Amino acid sequence: MPDARATAPPTAPGTVSPRTPVDLGVARSIAVAGRVLGPLVAQGAIVRRPRVTAWAERRQTDRTATAVLRGLRDEHGGAPVVLDLGPRRMVLPLHADDVGALLAGSPEPFSPASREKRAALRHFEPDAVLIQPSDRRPERRLLNEQALDTSEPVHRDAEALLAAVDRETQALTARVGTTGVLDWPAFAPAFWLIVRSVVLGAGARDDERVTDVIWALRQDANWAFLKPRRSRLRHELAERLRAYADRAEPGSLIARAAQSSAAPDPAGQVPQWLFAFDAAGAAVLRALAVAASRPVVRERLRSEAASGAAMQPYARGSVLESVRLWPTTFVVLRDATAPTVWGSRELSAGTGFAVVSAFVHRDPERLGFAHGFEPEAWLDGRADADWGLLPFSGGPVSCPGRNVVLLVAGRLLAGLAELDLAFPRARYLAHDPLPATFDHYGVRLLGR
Ligand code: HEM
Repeated sequence: MPDARATAPPTAPGTVSPRTPVDLGVARSIAVAGRVLGPLVAQGAIVRRPRVTAWAERRQTDRTATAVLRGLRDEHGGAPVVLDLGPRRMVLPLHADDVGALLAGSPEPFSPASREKRAALRHFEPDAVLIQPSDRRPERRLLNEQALDTSEPVHRDAEALLAAVDRETQALTARVGTTGVLDWPAFAPAFWLIVRSVVLGAGARDDERVTDVIWALRQDANWAFLKPRRSRLRHELAERLRAYADRAEPGSLIARAAQSSAAPDPAGQVPQWLFAFDAAGAAVLRALAVAASRPVVRERLRSEAASGAAMQPYARGSVLESVRLWPTTFVVLRDATAPTVWGSRELSAGTGFAVVSAFVHRDPERLGFAHGFEPEAWLDGRADADWGLLPFSGGPVSCPGRNVVLLVAGRLLAGLAELDLAFPRARYLAHDPLPATFDHYGVRLLGR
């Protein structure tokens, strides 16, 4: 499933968009930021805080945020709005074409290395492509694409990667057979066994320390500028990853990074991979809860799984739907590296842009399936043609791990769908509209 959005949406030459951004003023900016961005920051941008995610689900904070943004879009005819947040000016695009222009115009003039992202991610991955200035990006992007087989729906090491998934799925299935419960505390340890095997090799399967260290550093990253960096821990992480890169176990992603023709240290990109796999775990568990609540979804997953094929489109579409409905990248951020023209206005270099994923992913004005579960939309090209659907971002900075993560997560989802599990809150997910906010830590599935 390639990302079909190869070119930018049409705009007048020299302008990013025909829509002129509208200033909201200080008081309204603070009110909007509080209702839209506040709950996202509180939940933890880099690692989720369970108590806050439970609160967010109870309050359905994404419904409120979406309503605020819909109101602003109606009020200003779809123009982007500019939040004045003291030292920071943050533009929120509200039209899918403006989102497209931003993504297609990355990394120049819209750099993904935004101020906030740099402050957060440098806690554990200072060399990651995502936070590099443009001149340092190409070699690192190449390394990622070569190791992750970005353009290939099925990674060349699929056999080994899927064997690791199947092994742990079987062990988890046996445990659930005994305990009768599949919840986050049961799911997460098994999931991390898969991630370590896939990323670092079978020899890393039980190396909990490496993922514990990254978890601790991610907790610091939630605080971005407000926490000092822990250089000893970061050094330990780098050393461990370097050892795995040197070992280069065949059938692991890090081995492919070590073989890349690109110059940068392969281990420097790997913290992003370990971090980003976390999102796949959340997406799988949510999709599994949907499957347990909707017999049609579950049956399709099961019949597809019976084929044993590496390419399981419906399972992949289900993971994508899970990330569309409950985005794991709350906000896609960009910083302008040069002045940009929007309608009749020029925005200065350094202006920040924030696309609120939950808003653009569930826009009933564009999407007939906005609040439904429709994996088919990812199979027939509808979703990939829409610039507003950015679970894996879009354009030149889109996620280079998309295909490999869909391979792994789709297989895991299909394998777990074989279990006859019930979701006690099934009525919550059985019908549309699906809840705006859905806390993966709170998912609890029971054997029938
Ligand atoms: C469900 C899981 C995942 C989701 C939803 C996801 C989503 C994203 C998104 C939205 C971005 C762009 C962020 C931005 O524009 O600011 C991104 C970037 C990136 N992702 Fe993923 N990702 C996932 C898993 C992975 C995995 C497993 C890997 C590696 C194995 C990976 C590697 C990367 C890299 C290297 C970048 C930076 C790309 C660049 O700066 O050019 N991702 N991902």
